[in-house]
Amino acid sequence: KQPKISVAGSLNMDLVLKMQRMPKVGETVQGDEIHYISGGKGANQAVGCARLGAEVKMIGAVGGDAFGSEIMERMRNFGVHTEAISKLEGASTGTATIMHTSEDNCIVIVPGANGHNTAESIAAHAELIRRSDVLIVQLEIPMPAVETALRIAREAGVRTILNPAPALPLTEEQIAMADYFTPNETEFELYCGTSITSEEQLFERMTAWQKQYPEQTLIVTRGKHGISCATADGIVTVPAPIVKVVDTTGAGDSFNAALCFGIASGWSLDQTLPLAVKAASYSVTVFGAQDGMPTLQNLN
Ligand code: RIB
Ligand code: NA
Repeated sequence: KQPKISVAGSLNMDLVLKMQRMPKVGETVQGDEIHYISGGKGANQAVGCARLGAEVKMIGAVGGDAFGSEIMERMRNFGVHTEAISKLEGASTGTATIMHTSEDNCIVIVPGANGHNTAESIAAHAELIRRSDVLIVQLEIPMPAVETALRIAREAGVRTILNPAPALPLTEEQIAMADYFTPNETEFELYCGTSITSEEQLFERMTAWQKQYPEQTLIVTRGKHGISCATADGIVTVPAPIVKVVDTTGAGDSFNAALCFGIASGWSLDQTLPLAVKAASYSVTVFGAQDGMPTLQNLN
């Protein structure tokens, strides 16, 4: 049976500017290329789930501008249900301007319509959340919206994944609403309130976290080192295959999408984690956050 997933989150147009070097403050440099790529962590994860074969319904908002229409069309082409995405005439569509050199990235995010998601606008789609196998949320929409989505899911016994990106302050109650909590290493450091400089330290922190949130599965994504997952049974690490990296934008989203797909399909963590690591590795070999999202066939 086709797994049902709901995503409450952000949709952005990513403006990717490629240049030889970053401008300094007050300086003008000439860039080489600009790409208009649909992104946003919510949208990326929705597309990732749809590519793997799930029925995906996304709750969110775009602006009443050309980017908004373009994003809606691309989401539909990827097979994501867009009925619960509002087009807010007075708002601009969220953008992420990504300045990209061979060495560095600088990113400016303007939330626009994403910032207009409220507890009420999410609650208006409560039925959609209740009817899904898994809800996944990130932190690119306002906290009351995130919290409402999580609460509706939990009350209905729908499993929840909270990808705490970007890292914003969360209360213990908010963290505990997630069945799966999936920070990357930097985000995990922020939530622990300490820097983590070795794998040993990482595992110590993860074990402490697991004791504090015993019901939760904690998965820390570790870039080219793969992921580590803490449950009551201990810590498991799944290394990532070595691939030729073209674009790491959305790698975390690809992991979260595949994790979500596996859980919604009723697979075990042993089955799901290697697939999700593979999905993320696959996605970095293709330019763009959404274009590199694999289908199940791509992962065999
Ligand atoms: O996770 C990657 C995404 O983060 C990009 O698509 C960009 O929109 C930012 O929100
Ligand atoms: Na990619």
